[in-house]
Amino acid sequence: MSGKPDLFEYAKSVLKENDKGRHTIPSGGIYPHQWLWDSCFIAIGQRHYDVDRAKTEILSLLRGQWHNGMLPNIVMSETSLLGRKHDFWRSQLNPNAPDDIATSGITQPPMLAEAIVQVGEKLPLAERRSWYRTVFPALLKYHQWLYTERDPHQEGLTLQIHPWETGMDNTPPWMSEIQQHLLPFWIHAIQVLRLEHVIAFLRRRSHLVPAEQKIGTVDGLVMYSVQRRLRRKEYDISRILSHSLFAIEDLGFNCILIRANHHLKEIAKTSRQHIPAELLESMERTEKALEKLWDPYTEQYYSRNFVTHRFLKESSIATLLPLYAGSISKERAQQLVKLLHNEHMFDTAYPVPSVPVNSAYFKPHGYWQGPSWLNTNWLIIAGLERYGFMPEAQHIREQSLAMVSKHGSYEYFSPIDGSPAGAHNFSWTAALTIDLLSTKPA
Ligand code: GLC
Repeated sequence: MSGKPDLFEYAKSVLKENDKGRHTIPSGGIYPHQWLWDSCFIAIGQRHYDVDRAKTEILSLLRGQWHNGMLPNIVMSETSLLGRKHDFWRSQLNPNAPDDIATSGITQPPMLAEAIVQVGEKLPLAERRSWYRTVFPALLKYHQWLYTERDPHQEGLTLQIHPWETGMDNTPPWMSEIQQHLLPFWIHAIQVLRLEHVIAFLRRRSHLVPAEQKIGTVDGLVMYSVQRRLRRKEYDISRILSHSLFAIEDLGFNCILIRANHHLKEIAKTSRQHIPAELLESMERTEKALEKLWDPYTEQYYSRNFVTHRFLKESSIATLLPLYAGSISKERAQQLVKLLHNEHMFDTAYPVPSVPVNSAYFKPHGYWQGPSWLNTNWLIIAGLERYGFMPEAQHIREQSLAMVSKHGSYEYFSPIDGSPAGAHNFSWTAALTIDLLSTKPA
């Protein structure tokens, strides 16, 4: 493979550059805070060369935990733009927000249990037990919060209230749902008057990443307006749900939750901690409920509208994440692998595209509407390996490493030719490169 002679050392240097001492930012300039699932992926890489630093990465995420158990998707860095960001979110409006640190008011996919276990794997048993005991109370509280606040009808599927909660900001299922049913009138007006070109021009000047690689203007305005609505409700879920704001049972989020529940049980068992029966019942319900997201006509899983239970029939990278959940049958896994082999869908030279190539949304550098990302590749590899699809897993691993080796640790890559885009020196790309190099099957 031509490219970086020592990929491991290179990736380590990227993480060092973004290391703020006790937490790592996703990338300088554009992402100056600590993000929830980013830090989980970062710890999964750090554990290979400094397991204590990996622990610290996770512990510093827990500083942001709300009194009700929520883990926010952003914990603000003290050193950066605190005031401004603080104003944007105003998390203090909600009495559950931590008193001494500014955070966002929403969460992100629950990767925490996976990160805790991956770090634990690097520790001898006695130390692992003590590590698990240290983090167990916060992890348990987070999973309890996910069910009490986000599964109010005990359906087994948790709901999400902002596209940012999926970690895949402008992912087509959410964007089309919002465009079709929920577009605020003023964004609609901008579209009709074609003002988005003017706004895009203004945005382009102020951004560090070329506009065509970031979120579209209307999609960006949607995110902003949804965040504003949540802030007006002070991030109070009963007010949010009773004011007919939208909620979606997101496929990717719930698949990650299924895997996280599995890890939570493992952590409890190893460290001899107790999981309340009510939570165990909820966890079991989620595995069963995933099958309700299967559409026999198109032979795919979809996210669902929380209120109407209508499927959000746009395929995306989340379509493949039931592989990572690990709870689906071998037959279903085989059906998903078929999509991975389909050249009109996910089979590209540099897999795995964040939307199928035959989607109307597909753009090779379109953020979560086309590019291949290392973190979703990592999740899919883990799932494929668990179901025994070794050649498929190996292919994605090799192509992921090839993209980083050739171009560097970018945020995402074109699935067609591997060309890089988005932020440079991006932390989770570096961290997962380290992990993919270190866990390569012989
Ligand atoms: C973007 C991504 C999200 C990530 C964040 C920080 O918002 O969509 O997944 O956590 O940036 O890297």
